[in-house]
Amino acid sequence: MSDFVTLVEVGPRDGLQNEPGTVTASTKIELIDRLSDCGFPVIEAGSFVSPKWVPQMADSDFVLKGITPRPGIRYPVLVPNLKGFERAKKAGAREVAVFTAASESFSQRNTNCSIAESIARIEPVALGAKADGTRLRAYVSCVLGCPYEGIVDPAMVAQVCAKLIDLGCDEISLGDTLGTGTPGSAKAMVQAASDVVPIERLAVHFHDTYGQALANILACLDTGIRTVDSSVSGLGGCPYANGASGNIASEDLVYMLHGLGLPTGVDLAALVETGAWISSQLNRRNNSKSGLALLNTDATG
Ligand code: HMG
Ligand code: MG
Repeated sequence: MSDFVTLVEVGPRDGLQNEPGTVTASTKIELIDRLSDCGFPVIEAGSFVSPKWVPQMADSDFVLKGITPRPGIRYPVLVPNLKGFERAKKAGAREVAVFTAASESFSQRNTNCSIAESIARIEPVALGAKADGTRLRAYVSCVLGCPYEGIVDPAMVAQVCAKLIDLGCDEISLGDTLGTGTPGSAKAMVQAASDVVPIERLAVHFHDTYGQALANILACLDTGIRTVDSSVSGLGGCPYANGASGNIASEDLVYMLHGLGLPTGVDLAALVETGAWISSQLNRRNNSKSGLALLNTDATG
């Protein structure tokens, strides 16, 4: 098993979709370009959902056209349905991410439909992606806990993953949307999913609401997971999971992985600077402990 851990930086989408104030397209573009300079292999650049549902992402086409894509870096965007896929393709996306959930109540709140209906919406996107060679990522939300239903059964996660694999998804990201998971439950859930999806096609996506994300990731690395989602300075939350905080901060994740001797290709110093920059742009607290500590270390020599 390779030591390299592929980091999927989701701040420009999962982070900024939840910002209360307006974030200009030029700030989004600069953020993505800075993250490219940090060396992330994958940066989720926006979302083509209904602008009525998530107005913060209404300018994703403009953003996608405005960034300076670097060779070898992938820039997926979130799409909920065929309409989103078509808008994303028109804006130049070469990879899209669809999403569903392992909890019926969350699926209803997030996409106004049941899990089965959300899978049915994904089907034409999957066909379109296959037809034109678009890489297809899929998220399963609420893999460990649901804000409306409580603890989620790993068997349910595996069942949803099996359907997504049947549709031809290249990769499935397992989302602990609420951040309630702990290392034991996270590991058991990944093991259940890996019964139906090869581990190299699974990613983990932890929100850090309960401060468990790094511990959960460490436990999942043990199962063979080598793709991890994170968000610069811990940006984010979920508009349909009240109280959920942002993803694990990318700076904290990179600090841990490099400490473990697991390469990521990400320049930690450049990332820390980017985390400080976006926090000040948004007038928001920097939620990365490593980021803050390293900034402090630099300041005091
Ligand atoms: P709906 O209202 O049930 O659907 O929304 P609809 O098909 O009846 O469409 C309603 C209106 O939206 C229509 O316009 C459509 O044309 C338009 P109108 O006729 O009223 O003028 N519309 C669109 N417009 C632009 N782009 C589109 C699109 N689709 C429809 N793609 C829908 C259903 C799924 C569209 C809606 O519920 C939606 O957009 N939901 C997105 C919610 C969202 O973005 N949540 C956050 C992202 S998921 C997440 O953060 C979790 C994740 O990070 C993993 C984790 O942490 O667990 C990924
Ligand atoms: Mg998320």
